[in-house]
Amino acid sequence: MHIREIDLHDEAALKAWHDVEAAAMSYDRPHGVGRSFDALVNQVTVASDYYQPVLLGAVEGERIVGIAELGYSLMDNTHLADLEVTVLPDSRRRGIGRSLYADATARRRAAGRTSACGELNVVDDLGPLAFAEAMGAESVHEEDHLLLDLPMHPDHLRRLETRAASDYEIVRWQGRCPDDLIDAYAAMRTQMNQDVPTGELDYEAVVMTPERIRSGEERLAKSYDVLVAAARRSDGVLGGYSLVYLPHGRDHALQDDTLVMPEHRGHRLGLALKLATYEVIATEHPERTRFHTWTDPDNRAMQATNIAFGYRAVERMHEVQVKD
Ligand SMILES: CC(C)(COP(=O)(O)OP(=O)(O)OC[C@H]1O[C@@H](n2cnc3c(N)ncnc32)[C@H](O)[C@@H]1OP(=O)(O)O)[C@@H](O)C(=O)NCCC(=O)NCCS
Repeated sequence: MHIREIDLHDEAALKAWHDVEAAAMSYDRPHGVGRSFDALVNQVTVASDYYQPVLLGAVEGERIVGIAELGYSLMDNTHLADLEVTVLPDSRRRGIGRSLYADATARRRAAGRTSACGELNVVDDLGPLAFAEAMGAESVHEEDHLLLDLPMHPDHLRRLETRAASDYEIVRWQGRCPDDLIDAYAAMRTQMNQDVPTGELDYEAVVMTPERIRSGEERLAKSYDVLVAAARRSDGVLGGYSLVYLPHGRDHALQDDTLVMPEHRGHRLGLALKLATYEVIATEHPERTRFHTWTDPDNRAMQATNIAFGYRAVERMHEVQVKD
């Protein structure tokens, strides 16, 4: 077995790498959200000023039996590397994960990164966490992976609508944020990065500039429809937003950020924003039958909103980190 770096522009090599990711995902995680091959290609082949990915494969004969994904933020968190390791189910407990980890660690150190962090998901089997701990990493933050079946029953929807804040105008867009809202939207995205619970993770909250948002919009549009609902008070001030990704060609939707700005909290605006994105999905994207989201188990405000919707926990995500 040897470890080699994947040429990101070699489509066959990239496909073999993705096959391992997809096979492990369908074996380990009945509710896991995998990325499509096209999404991987767009992610790693379109150059970015903000992020540099490195893919590794553990090769036995002609076959890739394990993979690692290493990534470096270029504008922030330059002490960190992202790292995830995956081994095919039939090749586990033979030291392949350990070898991939060692190779990736040598590379991230050579790149001047003193710490690595990654996400892993557990259902019943705590093996992934045991592996991370055996590599010297510790769990520094946890989130529930929650799932909602779509569509919601009309009676349930009506009950939620009567509870939600109604004294804000809801502004929606798909893809590109309107120019007149981009500064306020960037300020809210920055606030989200500061406020979202990240446990003990040693990570510096990223400041979202309008340029960074525009760059992200362009990259994401290749693989996702991106929906945003924002709440505007009568004086024109934006009080919060909710962000949803619809991966192309799939039947699920991903509920990502929902933020209510500090001075607007306590009025069920979070519920109103989540309902606004839900309504777009139900009316314009009826092919979406599952809605995924991730929330810190101790984030009581967001958990209460999720429970009101009817989300159920299907996995526990651990953010793990190792420091030199
Ligand atoms: C986690 C994973 C990468 C481990 O790969 P692997 O090749 O089986 O790992 P190794 O054989 O190198 O194991 C190294 C050490 O990790 C620990 N370990 C690995 N799997 C374990 C398990 N299922 N239960 C308990 N300990 C485990 C052990 O200490 C092991 O050393 P040992 O075999 O000498 O006891 C693999 O199970 C996998 O791909 N899981 C799904 C993807 C994932 O969750 N990755 C998380 C890491 S980011």
